Amino acid sequence: MIRITSILFSVFCLTLTAQAEHIAITTPKTALVIHTQKGAMPQVLYYGARLSATDEAQIDVMSGYRQSVYPVYGLNSQGECALEVTHGDGSLATSLVLQSMETRHEENANITVLHLKDRVQPFFVDLYYKAYQAVDMIETWTEIRNDEKKPADLHQYASAYLPVRRGNVWLSTLYGSWANEGRVCEEPLQPGMKVITNRDGTRNSHTAHAELMLSLDGKPQENNGRVIGAALCYSGNYRLRIDTDDSDYHHLLMGICETGATYHLKKGETFRTPVVALTYSDEGLGGASRNFHKWGRKYRLMHGDKERKILLNSWEGVYFNITEEGMHQMMDDIAMMGGELFVMDDGWFGSKYQRNSDDAALGDWQTDTHKLPNGISALCDYAAKKGIKFGIWIEPEMTNTTSELYEQHPDWVLKAPGYEPERGRGGTQLVLDLANPKVQDFAFEVVDKLMTENPDIDYIKWDANMGIQNHGSQYLPKGEQSHTYIEYHRGFEKVCQRIREKYPDLTIQACASGGARANWGVLPWFDEFWVSDDTDALQRVYMQWGTSYFFPAIAMGSHIASSPNHQTFRTIPLKFRIDVAMSGRLGMEIQPKNMTEEEKTQAKKAIAEYKEIRPVVQFGDLYRLHSPYEKDGVASLMYVTETKDEAVFYWWKTETFCNQHLPRIRMAGLNPDRMYTIHELNRIDNKPLPFEGKQLSGRYLMDNGLEIPYTHNVDYNKLNAWSSRVLRLTAK
Ligand code: DGJ
Repeated sequence: MIRITSILFSVFCLTLTAQAEHIAITTPKTALVIHTQKGAMPQVLYYGARLSATDEAQIDVMSGYRQSVYPVYGLNSQGECALEVTHGDGSLATSLVLQSMETRHEENANITVLHLKDRVQPFFVDLYYKAYQAVDMIETWTEIRNDEKKPADLHQYASAYLPVRRGNVWLSTLYGSWANEGRVCEEPLQPGMKVITNRDGTRNSHTAHAELMLSLDGKPQENNGRVIGAALCYSGNYRLRIDTDDSDYHHLLMGICETGATYHLKKGETFRTPVVALTYSDEGLGGASRNFHKWGRKYRLMHGDKERKILLNSWEGVYFNITEEGMHQMMDDIAMMGGELFVMDDGWFGSKYQRNSDDAALGDWQTDTHKLPNGISALCDYAAKKGIKFGIWIEPEMTNTTSELYEQHPDWVLKAPGYEPERGRGGTQLVLDLANPKVQDFAFEVVDKLMTENPDIDYIKWDANMGIQNHGSQYLPKGEQSHTYIEYHRGFEKVCQRIREKYPDLTIQACASGGARANWGVLPWFDEFWVSDDTDALQRVYMQWGTSYFFPAIAMGSHIASSPNHQTFRTIPLKFRIDVAMSGRLGMEIQPKNMTEEEKTQAKKAIAEYKEIRPVVQFGDLYRLHSPYEKDGVASLMYVTETKDEAVFYWWKTETFCNQHLPRIRMAGLNPDRMYTIHELNRIDNKPLPFEGKQLSGRYLMDNGLEIPYTHNVDYNKLNAWSSRVLRLTAK
């Protein structure tokens, strides 16, 4: 038996014998155990909590039924496959066996590679496992290499496969739509195939998400039960399959969606799949979420260790009506309220064609001098005078048919040969062909030119408002049209990489008609994403709840917007809107000039208070306490620092009836033996809460919670149907 521990790790190849052995790929609290034997397909024996040496030594015997680590199509392959190939000689059969294994230690992780080869063809598959040593996450991906005489066609090429023992296993996923992203769906796995897919082409998280959780002990619970979490780290089309067949296993396969994307693998070429990030927790959904958040902040999210600025975005305030005077006014207001950044959204550019609505000028990234006679640099200077930073909106992957760019480069758009292109937003939008290196240069230069001319720009909102509605690259050869989706994302990643090499400190938001780029594929280059174009505070409670399953608060743009809300037309008082926005990366999306002086004072106070709790929200551990999806009239969550010396508790009433009875919310994640002082933030009540300033033990708060009044104690003319609380807890 070969036991791999971190001590044994240095770069070395493991000598394999024909004898059966196993390897344990471990993180601090988890282990993936794989049975290995030279000349045979490796098999998954176990994935779960880290094992004791004795238990691990006996796992071969104990695990019973085994599953191929990467099932392939060809021989004895009646089930769902990870890989399906037509080889250069026309054969559809593949049978992989282990040739050798390699292990090495990188700065933060141990890497194990299983080198597999087809039994007949010179066709190779390397399975990679990167096990982080400070967080419970294993990243796994696959590299497929063809050394046959002719190209091989990859029809299926999943990133990873995992067998999950059958039982009362429940699936938690996110679904949604524009302005209704990140909705939670929970269902028991039933016999048959469950497929979650997205084929938008450019973005991928409006309708469904490339991440999921499997609760192994029945209906998902927040802080109890065993949970496997898996995220496909990719921004393009995906297909997640769970096949519950006649065996004792659910078969989980995750990877790029192969529809319209057969990949012709040339001789000597290696195809690398996107990463799947795999985690396990016995602390329920919450434990798995915390694992994703920790791993993300530490290793995947751009600037995951830096506090985010509090910003005002101009979109819902002025839409396309950008003027210099208007931008000055908004900067004055956000600076006065204590904000740190102003972001000028869509509408600032265009020369021959003006950007006054969504139907023109994308691609013409020259400042519209009618609107901004003194240019961007004057706005940056104005921001600096006000003591804030300046940010700007762009959409570099797109053009409009009404644009100078399209007039000059009609060959730069994605287009099906012989067809008039289907148009998107505004009836004129088209997607640029990022497979084309010239288009990649162009997209890079959009950022580079802006930054060279205006080095003080601190933040970019990178939008993407159209999917690939035209299958066809004018750049790729005829025989490689099925590579269009893949090459688009390779091109996109190259552009991001170049931008990050030159501008490592820039903050960049991934926006895509709202939350269509909430995925771990883009976050190595982006600091955050825009959760949704829906800024309605009530609906945000639901959307942010779901989004938090996989993404940390620091990455979730969450803005205070106006009332009535521009999407739902719901009227919600400022207090509730603030209390919801403050549970993510706080910002504002409002015309401050329409706010009353009282509201501005309220917002100013909230911004000051958010600054106090910002490290707890942005770096703390999330504990979801009561789900809005339970429909009990209340939702609640909290953040706790790693040292458990500070926490912030949120409570939102989601519906109001007379004489209703709301559940009392028990806290979580605190140190039972420490005393916490309670202080209410954003207080509007005439009288403090009964527990204001009181000290209570973590144990009491976790066993009993606090009795939160259902309404606010305010003057009669201020009474309304909404109620929410934010409590700061500080340990003695
Ligand atoms: C879609 C985004 O989601 C909005 O926030 C805004 O930036 C608009 N695009 C601008 O066109």
